[in-house]
Amino acid sequence: MKVLIATEKPFAKVAVDGIRQEIEGAGYELTLLEKYTEKAQLLEAVKDADAVIIRSDIIDNEVLDAAKQLKIVVRAGAGYDNVDLAAATAHNVVVMNTPGQNSNAVAELVFGLLVFAVRNFYNGKAGTELKGKKLGILAFGNVGRNVARIAAGFGMDIYAYDAFCPKEVIEAAGVHAVDSTEALFDTCDIVSLHIPATPETKNSINYEMVSRMPKGGILINTARKEVIDEAGLIKLMEEREDLKYVSDIAPATAEEFAAKFAGRYFATPKKMGAQTAEANINAGIAAAKQIVGFLRDGITKFQVNK
Ligand code: 3PG
Repeated sequence: MKVLIATEKPFAKVAVDGIRQEIEGAGYELTLLEKYTEKAQLLEAVKDADAVIIRSDIIDNEVLDAAKQLKIVVRAGAGYDNVDLAAATAHNVVVMNTPGQNSNAVAELVFGLLVFAVRNFYNGKAGTELKGKKLGILAFGNVGRNVARIAAGFGMDIYAYDAFCPKEVIEAAGVHAVDSTEALFDTCDIVSLHIPATPETKNSINYEMVSRMPKGGILINTARKEVIDEAGLIKLMEEREDLKYVSDIAPATAEEFAAKFAGRYFATPKKMGAQTAEANINAGIAAAKQIVGFLRDGITKFQVNK
């Protein structure tokens, strides 16, 4: 059996070593396609793979067509919007993610970006502090919960909304549960996005929603660029010079944001949230273990295309 790691943005070497140990220890072969620049390279590499470990790499119908032996794809990470689930199911391919494995890394980056933003991107002028500010966490999943834990250390006043998480769970974490996304934006000085990109959430963070933020509001996005209605956000930030947008994913219209909102906008050049050795090890080894568990014992825990 051949297991391929196909990562346009590579794991830390120590994580690849750990994955190799799991895969070869189970008697399978490991092959590596890192930093590829053309889809053709991926199409070639998947040809004889029985299993593939990916990150944000796109697995679409064409890739699945090329992967004649493929039985399982594991997205080493949380969001699986980069995998065409219906096409995978049609090709009889199991898709899994590794929930929670990289969530602390993403949550820590939220605060790296936030301190940078409230200190005016280190331009030397007096900024503000996070202590005492109202932080709104949109979706209380693995990342949102880690954000709440760290925010408590900063002395922030923490709010959250999650359409799928009971209020009691949120309150039990010492967080104020609000009734809607709108209420979160109405209330909070800073809103941090932790929703997946789905047909329901795409473009949901729009002009109307963000315009609810109090003066000096900061929107932080370490989720997906697709959840933002970029045209709406640009219009609003043109009207309201008090708002800032910081993101771990460059917007599709990054050049326009950079040109129009100097000093109020920042995006990492490449998605960095999960890019720590620890997160790579956790997610990568979890993915390898899930592949072995599936190929050897038929275990389908964490399958997302059931
Ligand atoms: C995730 O969904 O797990 C994160 O966005 C990390 O994505 P990455 O593995 O491409 O860095």
